[in-house]
Amino acid sequence: MRNFIFEYPTKVYFGSGAVKEHLAGELSKYGKNVLLAYGGGSIKANGVYDEVMSVLKECGKNVTEFGGIMPNPTYAKVQEGAALAKQKGIDLILAVGGGSVTDCCKIVALQATNDEDVWESELVKGKLPACPPVPLGAIVTVSGTGSEMNGGGVITNEDKKIKTGLFGAAPRFAVLDPEYTMSVPFAQVMSGAFDTLSHAMETYFGQPDDDNVSDDINEAVMRSVIRNMRVLLTDHNDYTARSNLMWDSAMAENGILKIGKKTDFQAHMIEHQLGAYTDCNHGMGLAAIHPSYYRHIFKEGLAKFVRFATNVWNIERGDMTDEQLAMAGIDRLEQFIAECGLPTRLSQLKVRTPITDKMLEEVAYSTTIQPNSYKRMTGGEIYDILKECM
Ligand code: NZQ
Ligand code: ZN
Repeated sequence: MRNFIFEYPTKVYFGSGAVKEHLAGELSKYGKNVLLAYGGGSIKANGVYDEVMSVLKECGKNVTEFGGIMPNPTYAKVQEGAALAKQKGIDLILAVGGGSVTDCCKIVALQATNDEDVWESELVKGKLPACPPVPLGAIVTVSGTGSEMNGGGVITNEDKKIKTGLFGAAPRFAVLDPEYTMSVPFAQVMSGAFDTLSHAMETYFGQPDDDNVSDDINEAVMRSVIRNMRVLLTDHNDYTARSNLMWDSAMAENGILKIGKKTDFQAHMIEHQLGAYTDCNHGMGLAAIHPSYYRHIFKEGLAKFVRFATNVWNIERGDMTDEQLAMAGIDRLEQFIAECGLPTRLSQLKVRTPITDKMLEEVAYSTTIQPNSYKRMTGGEIYDILKECM
């Protein structure tokens, strides 16, 4: 193992009925003024809003609502939330939703206590704003991103055409009730689960590759995601599968798989930029990108791709060479994406504006190049990958 420091800030309450059982106890630790943040309204349709609101009222909180947080949250929405939090003297932000709501609130929490612009401070000046954020709690209603267990928020700056990660508030607590995910449209369930698989793969295919316990745990998480996605294909509402996927999601982004590793995340950087131009669904964009990206890098990480084919996909070597076995693993990944009804081509994505060749070129050349990929990408090679994905 490489040297590491590990500390964990988020207390997790997991399981059916967790909001009723545990939310009041957490709320008692904070002041009266709560910002209740949510997305486009799913929590009002499925009863989660009523359940959370009744606990807030029982606890005597003054609730300010901050709704309408969109998938792929914008920096303008962050500023709207921060202005509201400042104006109302908010003591706790409660994010109720998926990665988009939680991510938006992480940055709202930081912007609300700082006058300097968070984007400018972090991405231009390269430093965190000085004042600590407003405390944040997360109630997860759709799993996949694992956002509830880390401090990064992925935000789209529409003016700059950049979708990228900022550091904000890591949730002090997170409530994960798998029952809350039952109303999520099935395509989104599979998209979220693929996002989890992607997080695990992006970490697995990162250095170093010498024997380390993080990669062993990672293989178990990847196998669990694949097995449980398959269970959901036959029974959309299987509680055990939903609950396993919810914890897989948190496990893939809570830092445990990353201990002692330098992660890749190049496929994520490509997808994020594609998202900035098209507003495409995150997990679906990743599904279309991963196989092509891996065909470009597998020769530089051959032994690990062989291990992936063998340990994750259970492919027998037979008379295959290392390269053939590694390729068979990537082919199996692509077949699994199709089996799950996820897009294998960018042309299958639902997008705001049609994807043109010129757009792909702009996406490619504005993508952040990751230093830890087996093969260092160039804008030109990313452009080739994106064209292959069409
Ligand atoms: O907005 P509402 O009405 O709530 O509808 C949402 C949204 O349309 C719906 N939904 C959520 N819970 C539901 C539900 N519908 C019915 N019943 C429920 N219980 O699901 C849709 C998608 O929600 P969203 O939050 O956008 O999905 P997800 O959790 O996949 O988050 C995606 C965002 O997270 C970022 C992505 O880039 C994207 O912007 N990511 C954040 C990461 C992090 N902070 O660690 C890591 C990831 O790699 C990712 O980049
Ligand atoms: Zn992701």
